[in-house]
Amino acid sequence: MQQVLSYLDANKDRFLAELKDFLAIPSVSSQSTHNADIRRCAEWVANQMSTIGLQTVQIMETPGHPVVYADWLGAPGKPTILLYGHYDVQPVDPVNLWTSPPFEATIRGENLYARGSADDKGQVYIHFKAIEAWMKNNSSLPVNLKVIIEGEEEVGSANLDSFVKEHKELLKADMVLISDSSMFAKGVPSLCYGLRGLAYMEVEVTGPNTDLHSGSFGGSLHNPIQALSEIIASLHDKNGKITIPGFYDDVRPLSKTERAAFKKLPWNDRKYAKQWGLKNLYGEKGFTTLERLWARPTLECNGIWGGYTGEGAKTVLPAKAFAKISMRIVPDQTSAKVAKLFERHLKKIAPKTIDIRVRALHGGEPAITPIESPGVRAAVAALQKGFGKKPLYQREGGSIPIVVQFKKLLGLDTVLLGFGLPDENAHAPNEFINLDNFFGGMRTAAHFYNELPSYWKK
Ligand code: BES
Ligand code: ZN
Repeated sequence: MQQVLSYLDANKDRFLAELKDFLAIPSVSSQSTHNADIRRCAEWVANQMSTIGLQTVQIMETPGHPVVYADWLGAPGKPTILLYGHYDVQPVDPVNLWTSPPFEATIRGENLYARGSADDKGQVYIHFKAIEAWMKNNSSLPVNLKVIIEGEEEVGSANLDSFVKEHKELLKADMVLISDSSMFAKGVPSLCYGLRGLAYMEVEVTGPNTDLHSGSFGGSLHNPIQALSEIIASLHDKNGKITIPGFYDDVRPLSKTERAAFKKLPWNDRKYAKQWGLKNLYGEKGFTTLERLWARPTLECNGIWGGYTGEGAKTVLPAKAFAKISMRIVPDQTSAKVAKLFERHLKKIAPKTIDIRVRALHGGEPAITPIESPGVRAAVAALQKGFGKKPLYQREGGSIPIVVQFKKLLGLDTVLLGFGLPDENAHAPNEFINLDNFFGGMRTAAHFYNELPSYWKK
């Protein structure tokens, strides 16, 4: 183990240089103009997997972007980890808000800035280097390892379910390991045991059959932007509760123990508001911020458009208005039911003066992972060794829908071993990974492989 740690320490500069190459590939999965970059990125991952000593490296096709697979199965009798991550990234716009170019990784202070640095290339790379350190110093790993790195996580992993179903034998393992979430705070390592799910909707409101002069026609018909705004505004009541009938029916109430545990975490609402430039916070009445973030469902308008938004003024009464609305869901809600309730409600409240279309774009289920599993206990030990501090337990507001699918399709529990930070600007300009987390993550991953077999037996 000592050699492995010394190797990680001695190669820091090379690791950063290599990571920069990985981050330089604009593997934006939602934009087809980047399809060639996605392919190049899959090849980079495959190449890296061979270099660090993994075997059976394959770029596996799907109807969308490819999955990269590799394994190392030389530890008979030891547990097998299925390591999952994603090499695709979110779009970079608005690009003018980036301090340094999104695909030119730049170190400022204690952070490395680039799209994908935390979500998720940087975290995937952490594991690659932990694996490399073991392979270079021991010619073996303490566990068996299967790795799948996909290219469609940021667009809802549409092809991953069938991929897993088709390759059940290949993916057979004892547990899943994912590093695609965050630690509680800088210098505060934590183990995440819960994620919210998601139902993502698009709404289209149609008024007149063409754009019209707002003077000649304004006052005689319902402006679709106004109608849509009225609908959206009505989806929360004055207590911040969502007004869709039946929406909360399946929400599992927080247990007393969990509420008490959340309350013990180091948290300050005022500091949090200040960090985001806010005078006041907003949310569902009767719950603390952490409860609202981790264990309560929400409804957010992600985007709204229609009419004229160009330079200067144009007097127009638009024919259409659109919105993208997502709902984060918690156990025991399901994305399908919530999407249906949303659609039914919007159709019901839509005024007779307009037409409305509601479409579900994608969904994912919430996940709670068992805190007493051998994997989680090994992760806690590894975090303590990797960061020199006992980790906290936490949940997260974000979603990794494949976690529930791994349980359903392969019967596997997941360990969420995230090394990001809550303010890492994922999906936003100036995404970064903290370098202490980056190198601490590598040590933790290396320890995790080493710790797991002993916990597996206990
Ligand atoms: N890394 C995130 C998931 C995440 C975010 C976990 C924050 C914990 C905290 C992942 O890449 C992501 O963004 N997932 C999407 C899922 C969606 C596209 C189905 C999300 O949460 O919006
Ligand atoms: Zn993401």
